[in-house]
Amino acid sequence: MQAPSQEILLQADNVSKHYGDFIALGEVSLDLNSGELVSIVGPNGAGKTTLVNVLTALHQPTKGIVKFAGQDIAGLDIVELSTRGLARAFQLVHIFPDLTVRETLSVAACSFLGLRWKMFGNVKRNSEVADVVAHIAHAFDLTSALDSSSKSLSHGKRKLLDVASALALHPKVLILDEPTAGVSTADKHGIMETLLAAAQAIGVQSIMLVEHDMDLVSRYSSRIIAMQGGNKIADLPTDDFFANEEAVSIVIGKGAAPCH
Ligand SMILES: Nc1ncnc2c1ncn2[C@@H]1O[C@H](COP(=O)(O)OP(=O)(O)OP(=O)(O)O)[C@@H](O)[C@H]1O
Ligand SMILES: [Mg+2]
Repeated sequence: MQAPSQEILLQADNVSKHYGDFIALGEVSLDLNSGELVSIVGPNGAGKTTLVNVLTALHQPTKGIVKFAGQDIAGLDIVELSTRGLARAFQLVHIFPDLTVRETLSVAACSFLGLRWKMFGNVKRNSEVADVVAHIAHAFDLTSALDSSSKSLSHGKRKLLDVASALALHPKVLILDEPTAGVSTADKHGIMETLLAAAQAIGVQSIMLVEHDMDLVSRYSSRIIAMQGGNKIADLPTDDFFANEEAVSIVIGKGAAPCH
């Protein structure tokens, strides 16, 4: 991606999410600028997925506003959001496990191309859809698996298909919640390299990544937002974050902080 700019693509202003008396997300404000890869880190239950759910309008915040490209996104559905350029790994693989890889990518390609879902029966004959599918499958090394059912793929390949489906929407902003969870350390880097190269080729301007693996986080992030107990406890450029022993120890657990 290009160098960070001051163009704010996604903005949360004092968003919170309550479940009854339980505060899953306190009042969190953040910006995501063009050219950034921002990682959201924090221990289990810190509120990372809740934040992503609110940022992508999947859940309505209890309070606060989320804006994409300067406009309030409250109430928008996933199709409208992806049309505007905000995409999250769709998890189509989980929603439609019986589809083939080609069909799964075609669902996303249809959405990107503004084709109606009823076209789906004809996608194999639609050359625009076929072109998007072929391009994305190639970028993610899924070409040989195009006619396999999604559920027959290895865990790592299913993760790739999940991310590939989001990229088939050609978003400006891509939000990924643990895209490498359950994948071996060696495969994690392969997935990240593949997705970053594909994102660059497609023109993705900014990525938000929820990730527990601090090796990946340190290698790929330009900025790190740390969460704990539903609150934002740090929002720092990557080097500054890793120099902040208190924030690092909260994120990676007690006893893991550098000795002094
Ligand atoms: N629908 C819900 N109803 C009640 N509590 C919820 C709901 N969804 C999430 N929570 C709670 O909100 C808190 C934050 O959950 P969240 O899934 O956002 O954490 P997380 O940081 O993504 O954790 P992990 O690293 O394990 O994925 C947790 O205590 C969780 O149990
Ligand atoms: Mg989570």
